[in-house]
Amino acid sequence: MVSASARPTPKSFHVKSFGCQMNAYDGARMAELMEAQGMVAADAAEADLVLLNTCHIREKAAEKVYSDIGRLARREGGRPMIAVAGCVAQAEGPEIPRRAPAVDVVVGPQAYHRLPELIGQAVAGGTALDTDMPAASKFDALPKRRRQGASAFLTVQEGCDKFCTYCVVPYTRGAEISRPWGQILDEAKALVDAGAREITLLGQNVNAWADGGRGLHDVIEALAAMPALARIRYMTSHPNDMADGLIAAHRDIEKLMPFLHLPVQAGSDRVLKAMNRAHDVASYLRLIERVRAARPDIAISGDYIVGFPGETDAEFEETLAVVREIGHAQAFSFKYSPRAGTPAATMADPVPAAAMEERLARLQALLGQQQHAFNEATLGRTCAILIERDGKRPGQRLGKSPWLQSVLVEGGAIGDLVEVEIVSAGPNSLIGEARVPAAA
Ligand code: 5AD
Ligand code: SF4
Repeated sequence: MVSASARPTPKSFHVKSFGCQMNAYDGARMAELMEAQGMVAADAAEADLVLLNTCHIREKAAEKVYSDIGRLARREGGRPMIAVAGCVAQAEGPEIPRRAPAVDVVVGPQAYHRLPELIGQAVAGGTALDTDMPAASKFDALPKRRRQGASAFLTVQEGCDKFCTYCVVPYTRGAEISRPWGQILDEAKALVDAGAREITLLGQNVNAWADGGRGLHDVIEALAAMPALARIRYMTSHPNDMADGLIAAHRDIEKLMPFLHLPVQAGSDRVLKAMNRAHDVASYLRLIERVRAARPDIAISGDYIVGFPGETDAEFEETLAVVREIGHAQAFSFKYSPRAGTPAATMADPVPAAAMEERLARLQALLGQQQHAFNEATLGRTCAILIERDGKRPGQRLGKSPWLQSVLVEGGAIGDLVEVEIVSAGPNSLIGEARVPAAA
């Protein structure tokens, strides 16, 4: 006899990830874990279990989960078992099933290796919750990596000790931890054996990675020695952890791609101080100069927040000036979103919504122009692109340039490095024509 509240054991699952690349990585590992339990992947419309792998970084991202839960709870043909994972799960924990009783499982980003047990508890009836940040690493408990696309993520560092005053990450992802050297190399090898040609090393402060005197550049060097691995990237970096060795790696290691995501967040020293960024504009610009001296063609990406409490028009103009000075290949920009529990949430002088809106529009227009200009500068150049997936048209493929631009090309197979000439450059993507095949 099963109890009245018991539910059938799910046989199929669907993972939906929001937010950053680390969530995408976690989502992939959750899927591998579900498969190791014998479940099969399915669409959200049919899966017995839907995992919402959530993001808490801004209010909009965090609220999205509740509309998704509502939709799933009313799903035609019956509602699935619903698991909320990721950073909203960490931040809101037991609040989630209180607000959305349809939720069966709540699991934080450091506890998702326990999903099989939690699902078992939900099957037995009731809501299962685990938002512990255990000392033992989830990584030891997860199944080996398998079935990779051309480009794979590998988390090497998690968490943050920097406590920027606007940011929830130190609370949702915990203190900075570096995965051990050997564990990273083992996972990289498994990824390459499973077909990955490119690995992007991930961390909230990836360049803070350290283990036994080694730094991130040592990881990059070790990966570069793997013959079947063609390309290495890393993100996201903090300006204060940009070690000399890492800058030199951009000069010395050919497989390290010329792309750097290095957020400055704002262009006013007063605002940076209020943000507790622990760097100023001048030191950031000097750093970019040094990186460019090491790798002149490097594409610089970043993150910007407009409308931080107290930001004046003049201070916002300083952000535009800094963007002009840097010249981005691409960058992300956001309206400041107050997050409960962070110091900035209670700061005086919130910026009115209309000013926030206008600042974001002006910044995005400038960044859009810079991105288009960067793309146009590659016109006529020949470069290798790594084919990642099919394009929209038959025979068409989509790949990435060394500078992380999307390039459409006719022909080539997924995982191939194809030498192309860039023949057309739009704001968001390029068109390449295959030339002589590059040696893979
Ligand atoms: N409001 C708006 N943007 C934020 N970010 C982080 N916290 C907030 C917030 N409270 C942005 C930062 C960070 C990126 C991942 O998200 O720019 O680099
Ligand atoms: Fe969002 Fe930050 Fe969590 Fe990534 S780590 S999902 S950006 S809150």
